[in-house]
Amino acid sequence: MRGLTVPFVSALLFLSFFLSANAFSEEPLKIIAGPYLMDFDQTRMTVMWETNLPAPSKVLYGEEAPLTSEVARPEPATIHEVVLEGLKPETSYYYQILSTDSAGKEVTAEVATFMTAVHPDTAFAYCVMGDHRTYPDRYEKIADLAYAERPNFVINVGDVVSNGTVKQQWIDEFLFPARKLMARVPTYISIGNHEKNADWYYKYVSYPKPENYYSFDFGNSHFTIVDSNQPLVPGQDQYKWIEQDLAQSNATWKFVVHHHPPYSSDENDYGDTVKKFEKTDRGEVDMREVTKLYDKYDVDLVWVGHIHDYERTWPLTDGKVDQENGVIYIQTGGGGAELENFAPTRSWFTAKVFRGWQFCSVAIHGKTLRMMAYDIDGKMYDYLDLAK
Ligand SMILES: [Fe+2]
Ligand SMILES: [Fe+2]
Repeated sequence: MRGLTVPFVSALLFLSFFLSANAFSEEPLKIIAGPYLMDFDQTRMTVMWETNLPAPSKVLYGEEAPLTSEVARPEPATIHEVVLEGLKPETSYYYQILSTDSAGKEVTAEVATFMTAVHPDTAFAYCVMGDHRTYPDRYEKIADLAYAERPNFVINVGDVVSNGTVKQQWIDEFLFPARKLMARVPTYISIGNHEKNADWYYKYVSYPKPENYYSFDFGNSHFTIVDSNQPLVPGQDQYKWIEQDLAQSNATWKFVVHHHPPYSSDENDYGDTVKKFEKTDRGEVDMREVTKLYDKYDVDLVWVGHIHDYERTWPLTDGKVDQENGVIYIQTGGGGAELENFAPTRSWFTAKVFRGWQFCSVAIHGKTLRMMAYDIDGKMYDYLDLAK
């Protein structure tokens, strides 16, 4: 016995220390973001979530408990994307996500719900918000108020993170604050300048390709989501796509969404309006060219952000108020980022300005539309009725 002791015991100690240290360094599998819902239609829903370690993905779902249908993706992933297909239109489903570690232990989230897209003649609603980056507490309030509206989906006008190249911000600034809303209501983003066209945008979202611009129909409406970080001039690929996309749609209502505002009464982003000797164009003049397509193809409403407050224009055609056929622009960038100021004097295109954190909600039935704008305390400060 004595001959063995010192080297043997120390080797044994080293081995057991090594084994136990190794066992503890292996972090347990956990869900670090989601579940959240992305692109969907009448028969399809995209479910996403993130785990700390690569693991297989599975979604259980059904119209009632127990959840008897499932879609499994055995290849390990950290950002999970599972598409449920063959669903019934305008139907509520329960769903639950599952990932499995190497020992076969499952991690899961609470059962949540979603509803597939409605029939073209059914009334529906959507919420619009944006520019919440850097301020997750304010964004959480706005997201919870939006969920209280029970919209069919949400549109986000961009700047969802401070710096799109920083991975953790996609969880901390975008997914976590809106977790209750995003687990139950699909979100469509128009990419902002703060997303920096980073790879993380393309990893965390799931939209029709190329994902920075795309379109979809919902109910009796068409939505064209544009990337305004790219130049929007005739001859450019996206410009051609916008024209084709708007031309092919016979929808009752046409909406366009992009981050930058062609018209805005912001005090200093487009020339300093406070100093009387400095000329200002009151909006992103580079965006004026593409608005000719909105005039030509009868777009009803254009959603924009970038400036951190609310502004609704009168209906406009080619740089003039046109009550008959004009396009209305609504800037809804009060999702949480520091507020900006309006020019000290009124712009010719302004119907309503509001400086405060806010979001919008739109209810549509057939040829009737009501837009309601709410502040961060849930108080309505503006509304708009449109009828065809
Ligand atoms: Fe912004
Ligand atoms: Fe922006």
